[in-house]
Amino acid sequence: MYLWLKAFHIIAVIAWMAGMLYLPRLFVYHCVAEPGSKQSETFKVMERRLLRAIINPAMIVTWVSGLWLAFEGGFFKSGWLHGKLLLVVILSGVHGLFARWVRDFAADRNVHSQKFYRIINEVPTLLMVGIVILVIVKPL
Ligand code: HEM
Repeated sequence: MYLWLKAFHIIAVIAWMAGMLYLPRLFVYHCVAEPGSKQSETFKVMERRLLRAIINPAMIVTWVSGLWLAFEGGFFKSGWLHGKLLLVVILSGVHGLFARWVRDFAADRNVHSQKFYRIINEVPTLLMVGIVILVIVKPL
């Protein structure tokens, strides 16, 4: 049962991370497309579908399965889990910002530059590296 849950957790994590790495890439290209152009409208559809069909449900499954694993494994007193939870809360906050920017793009109200999105693009990667080291190496 525990291993099935862990497999489910990792499947959800992969889907969440794939979306969190791809969405800011779409922002990088979208912010230089002319508002109202066919290209800009296509990006809007891609961003909305990616957020609603992949990123949002994958985040929920990751949280539910992760907390369930922590409960089953009795990890709530472990330092590595506290560190991991802190980084996952930050990742969830970044997710919230992405959702806001999808709404801004949908209303042609983007205010950020391409450079901004290129930098933001690296944040989920850095968080993911920390999260994976904490849960696999368990240094804390
Ligand atoms: C949403 C909150 C999360 C919680 C509460 C959580 C909790 C857990 C727990 C308790 C385990 C089992 C550890 C073990 O059996 O040793 C686990 C496994 C794992 N988690 Fe999470 N997790 C969360 C999110 C994430 C995220 C966002 C990632 C990656 C970006 C991730 C990556 C992994 C990996 C790779 C494993 C397998 C580790 C192993 O088999 O040793 N988790 N998680």
